Amino acid sequence: MNDIDPARRTLLRRIGGTTVATALFPGLLLSACGNGTSAGTRSATAARHGLERGPFDVDLRLRAQPGTAPILPGTPSEVWRYTAELRNGPADTVAPVGDSYTGPLIRLRRGQRFRARLENGLPEDTTVHWHGLHVPPDVDGQPRLPIKPGEAMTVAFEVRDRAGLYWYHPHPHGPDGGRVGFQSYAGLTGPLVIEDESERSLGLPAGDQEMILVLQDRSFAGDNELTYIGSGMGTMMRRMRGFLGDRVLVNGQPDAVREVATRPYRLRLVNGSNSRIYKLAWSDGRPMTVLGTDGGLLTAPLKQPFVTLAPAQRIDLWLDLSSSEPGDELRLLSQGYQAGMMNGMMGGGMMGDMMGGSELPAGARFPLLTLRVTRRESGGEPLPERLVDNLQTPAVNRDTLVRRFELGMAMMRGFTINGRRFEGTNVADDEVVRLGDTEIWEFANDTMMPHPMHVHGLQFTVVGRQQTGGRHGWGGLEDGLVDAGWHDTVLVLPGERVRIALTFEDFEGLYMYHCHNMEHEDAGMMRYYRVRA
Ligand code: C2O
Ligand code: CU
Ligand code: CU
Repeated sequence: MNDIDPARRTLLRRIGGTTVATALFPGLLLSACGNGTSAGTRSATAARHGLERGPFDVDLRLRAQPGTAPILPGTPSEVWRYTAELRNGPADTVAPVGDSYTGPLIRLRRGQRFRARLENGLPEDTTVHWHGLHVPPDVDGQPRLPIKPGEAMTVAFEVRDRAGLYWYHPHPHGPDGGRVGFQSYAGLTGPLVIEDESERSLGLPAGDQEMILVLQDRSFAGDNELTYIGSGMGTMMRRMRGFLGDRVLVNGQPDAVREVATRPYRLRLVNGSNSRIYKLAWSDGRPMTVLGTDGGLLTAPLKQPFVTLAPAQRIDLWLDLSSSEPGDELRLLSQGYQAGMMNGMMGGGMMGDMMGGSELPAGARFPLLTLRVTRRESGGEPLPERLVDNLQTPAVNRDTLVRRFELGMAMMRGFTINGRRFEGTNVADDEVVRLGDTEIWEFANDTMMPHPMHVHGLQFTVVGRQQTGGRHGWGGLEDGLVDAGWHDTVLVLPGERVRIALTFEDFEGLYMYHCHNMEHEDAGMMRYYRVRA
């Protein structure tokens, strides 16, 4: 393949890859072709990991395959999408999320024994990663356990996590680089909710008053074809920065509108974008009321003017429309912020395109969702003053081991963690932790870009952050950070040192940690770590 016109390349015809600019940046510019993972060594039978035997409370079939979805008016777009079929379990375990490509909402209850048969109907390897869940390593959907085209894998685990919004997405990585960015961009992203008793007792808005919202940006060509990172001049820049689309979609729809009543709502957002960071705000300037983060509810609601939501992060918001009137409109916005010194030069147009620019650059201000009040309704519980009685956090003190991770950028080699790129399951001595230990991990970012750092297999708390280096033209995102509560992904801004506390419980073996800017992780800003008993 040798297309050289980045803007015209369509997503699903790109399988086959390209090498146009490789010579400029060989280590970083990874071809987009089907990843030839260690060919043919896995058997064609379904493998089983985690829980070995039933009974199972939930049994489902989750299939990834090509299809079409209506996104923009006119021709439906070609996408890759998840479909689910519930074979056993409570009827509300699986529900569609809009009518576009977004994967179905999977709703689980803490304590359930869950089993899924994962079927790969794609023309390349894939995996299903349960982002944020505390599950055994072999059912975590890591790249070392790919599902080949036409094959299936059965995974089963106990749902141990706190109530919260999690999500699932592919995690394949072959010798030519990662395919997380491509596959999730093609449409393979779905939300997963865990419920538990203590959350249910709060009586938070549910049913029509609960909105699950997946935020993503996409670009389109000619006949509504999705386009990903092209292959021309701008490719190198686009990969460095991460993909930015021209249109922002909510649950796979542009210009999202919801009709609402005069009552309280719960909005649960996941940033499923490849690289875009949102600075969320309400159009009427009211504060955002935060109920929870990646790993579930906070001790008490938190009010702040903005919420910064980096790729892979979730936020749980309370919105009371009781004092609105029919006819009112409220918009959820992404507020403007400064996104680096290069950003202005990388706008749209031909020059911008060569520089890897987007019509909707990082830091642009735009609406995400319009809430249109159409009816008066009373009722709904008031905002609880306390959400969680006894929020456990990892116990750290001055003797807690601090493990340091330097986020780096190496010319010709892309982004690195402690100077290393992804090396498959190779784990360095300083990437081995002990089962049961609590540690502090410090991410030090001296690059020119923010990195949303994600750790698999657990939730952590943010101990602190410090600005010690240059901001490199980034500004404004710091106003919206939510560091309270439990997280699996933390944004590390340029010049920052961010410390998190984590405990490695229950499972031993290989997990991953990486930047969740999907283009960064695909380019190798990702490593395995090992939990050793
Ligand atoms: Cu969404 Cu490796 O993660
Ligand atoms: Cu993950
Ligand atoms: Cu990054």
